[in-house]
Amino acid sequence: MFDFKYYTPTKVVFGKNTESKVAELIKEFGGTKVLIHYGGGSVVRSGLLKRVTDTLDAAGISYVSLGGAVPNPHLGLVYEGIELCKKENVDFLLAVGGGSAIDSAKAIGYGLANEGDVWDFYDYKRKATGCMPLGVILTIAATGSEMSDSSVITKEEGLVKRGYSSDFARPKFAIMNPELTMTLPDYQTACGCTDIMMHTMERYFTQGGNMEITDALAEGLLRTVKKNAVILRDDPKNYEARAEVMWAGSLAHNGLTGCGNDGGDWMTHKLEHELGGLYDVAHGAGLAAIWGTWARYVYKNCLPRFKKFALNVMEVENTGSDEEIALRGIEAMEDFYRSINMPTNLRELGVNPTEEELALMAKKCAVGVGGEMGSARVLNEADMLAIYKASV
Ligand code: NZQ
Ligand code: ZN
Repeated sequence: MFDFKYYTPTKVVFGKNTESKVAELIKEFGGTKVLIHYGGGSVVRSGLLKRVTDTLDAAGISYVSLGGAVPNPHLGLVYEGIELCKKENVDFLLAVGGGSAIDSAKAIGYGLANEGDVWDFYDYKRKATGCMPLGVILTIAATGSEMSDSSVITKEEGLVKRGYSSDFARPKFAIMNPELTMTLPDYQTACGCTDIMMHTMERYFTQGGNMEITDALAEGLLRTVKKNAVILRDDPKNYEARAEVMWAGSLAHNGLTGCGNDGGDWMTHKLEHELGGLYDVAHGAGLAAIWGTWARYVYKNCLPRFKKFALNVMEVENTGSDEEIALRGIEAMEDFYRSINMPTNLRELGVNPTEEELALMAKKCAVGVGGEMGSARVLNEADMLAIYKASV
């Protein structure tokens, strides 16, 4: 068991109609002039944005709005947001949407609280010393950005997708009303469930330091999301299932399911980030497309964990050798992806890279992780290329 720090300062307000609390929460955290930041328009179409602005109007809180955060959010809009906030003297950021709007808001927050180019943080050139306070109204259960320290931004030039993490960017509050996720396309719901599970799996497939309590939480979370993803496939308006998945999304990425381990593997995420940067695929679908190949590539180096996963999460039969059980678990996971219409290779993801593009992704991935990375198995550029090739 490793020593650990666990820091989750986000105030969670969970349940039906909780978005009506937004003005009082902004006031509680000292906001007087707000930037409302959102995505491509789902919050306009659903009427949520209007409800939010009505609530702020009634409370006498002034605001400016900036939409347009696309999935795999762009640096250009971050710069635009920083300029707008400076001009309007904004002192609080409100992201209304999913991981893309939240991450874009976090990047704007870094740009406002620090001098110089905000991309420097994502380019690992220097560390942020602060972030403007930020609140969230979540509309998709997926990334866990509503409680996480991370933000992932894509620089248009060179299509470089990078994450930056610091406690400064953890949201002050997160409003989570599961009903708000009911307008999601089925594909996005499934992508979200995949991402949630992956955040815990990244922390699970490690070489050491595991705690019984952490494993129990992780395995329980994984079983819960697996079960409820299938319920939502058949019954997308099921409130209880929406709620289970939404809360799991936050717990999967706020650090809870990694306490005591060695920090996690994270290579499936790193490999996916190159796919997202280059082909603009949905993050969850990209993860599903790469995970099985990654798992087969590394499982022998992390056999006890793959066996435990197979038995306790995928609930496969406990017969045969450890390797057979581990492989059965990987196959069961891929069957689960197929059952919720997620891809299990790049072709099914709709991506058909050339040899040059595969090599480029491996190279960018290796640069992005500083040469090599992984816990289940440490991967270098040659390994990354082998996984990309095998996942076509
Ligand atoms: O943009 P709008 O119009 O809002 O539509 C979005 C978007 O098309 C739509 N959507 C969201 N809520 C909806 C809805 N449509 C109808 N009804 C609703 N209630 O769904 C699509 C996806 O939204 P997005 O915010 O892009 O999804 P997600 O939350 O999956 O975020 C993905 C981004 O987060 C990054 C990913 O790499 C990707 O860039 N990640 C961020 C992390 C973090 N900050 O901790 C960790 C993750 O591993 C991940 O890398
Ligand atoms: Zn993710």
